[in-house]
Amino acid sequence: MLQRISSYLTKQLPRISLECITTKRGRGAFPDIERPEYPRHYMLDTGNVCNLRCPFCQTGKKVGGVNRGLMTRDSFDVIIDKIGVHAKFISMVNWGEPFLNKDLLYFASRCNALGIRTHIDSNLSTKYWSEEEAERIVTSGLNSILGSIDGTTQETYSRYRVGGDLGMALHNLNILRAARERLHLVKPFVGWAFYINKFNEHQINDARAMAKDLGVDIWFKLLSCDDPSWHSKYHFLPGDPVLATPEWVPSIYPDWRAQSIVDTPLHPILPGVCVLPFSFMVINWNGDVYPCDVVYGEQFKLGNLLTQNIDEVWFGQEYVKCRSFLRNYGPQQESGSVCQNQPCPVAKKWLY
Ligand SMILES: C[S@@+](CC[C@H](N)C(=O)[O-])C[C@H]1O[C@@H](n2cnc3c(N)ncnc32)[C@H](O)[C@@H]1O
Ligand code: SF4
Ligand code: SF4
Repeated sequence: MLQRISSYLTKQLPRISLECITTKRGRGAFPDIERPEYPRHYMLDTGNVCNLRCPFCQTGKKVGGVNRGLMTRDSFDVIIDKIGVHAKFISMVNWGEPFLNKDLLYFASRCNALGIRTHIDSNLSTKYWSEEEAERIVTSGLNSILGSIDGTTQETYSRYRVGGDLGMALHNLNILRAARERLHLVKPFVGWAFYINKFNEHQINDARAMAKDLGVDIWFKLLSCDDPSWHSKYHFLPGDPVLATPEWVPSIYPDWRAQSIVDTPLHPILPGVCVLPFSFMVINWNGDVYPCDVVYGEQFKLGNLLTQNIDEVWFGQEYVKCRSFLRNYGPQQESGSVCQNQPCPVAKKWLY
């Protein structure tokens, strides 16, 4: 999960002087800490339950501190009424397997009708899909589906995807691709995400060849984990071409940062720092709101979109504290914010 946003966190931004920073409103001005523009990009988790037990996933490990469940149609309808007017892109996944929610395709089609692009990551290993099921999925309005398949043999694959079935995942990837082609659809994009670890690093070329045979694009990423015995050689070679972001990625994931954030560093003394609380929102299956997909646990909640309106959450004190902490970044300040209290990469790297 960390890896999903770490590229944003570590982006090298140009150094500028303090005078260059402006908090004035207006086109190109740096986002206001108290009233930034509404986020255009969201993570809306369809549920934090899963059929697999991946050893470095909080859900796979069944880590406590959160209520588990699936988003209902009623909750989705309430939330989309609040964010739909602002949203351009919704990733309908965070801490669970989206295909375990029977209403996933309803959610996707509602977003599609509102002109909101949607993406999911999936283990593609919940059941063997028929051609009919594949057609329902590809005609739902989803814009992209990335299958998490970390190996080319059941043995290597299930080191991480514990309880997963490689044959099923590859069947489902293929049947989705075939359904899209048969129906002459331009979407969804169907791709393969391969998270490299110690046990599958020798299968990269095989995976590339298999993806080519299947007619899907593949994206190699590093598995995030604290256990060094899982680290592949690529974990020590961050500039290796295998890890290059494929060219098609920007067409799937639009850059969600406000232009002013791209142009102006969040804080002048840092080469780069997290900008998530300025232009992005993570919403749990039960409406709870978090600043990012790194924090895990209800103590990091900033509000709730079932019980509050978007202004109360987005302009609320908890969000303001996160932004203020990041904008005035440094050990001297005491904002008491989620961002200060969470040992995320930002805090680990620069705060102390
Ligand atoms: C929590 S999963 C939920 C979606 C789905 N269950 C899946 O695994 O694809 C969200 C994303 O995190 C990725 N992921 C899981 N464990 C990871 C890890 N240790 N390091 C980096 N990414 C990971 C998944 O592959 C997926 O792309
Ligand atoms: S398949 Fe996804 S949600 Fe399920 S345990 Fe693995 S990483 Fe977590
Ligand atoms: S806790 Fe705050 S600073 Fe850390 S990744 Fe999340 S939003 Fe960014």
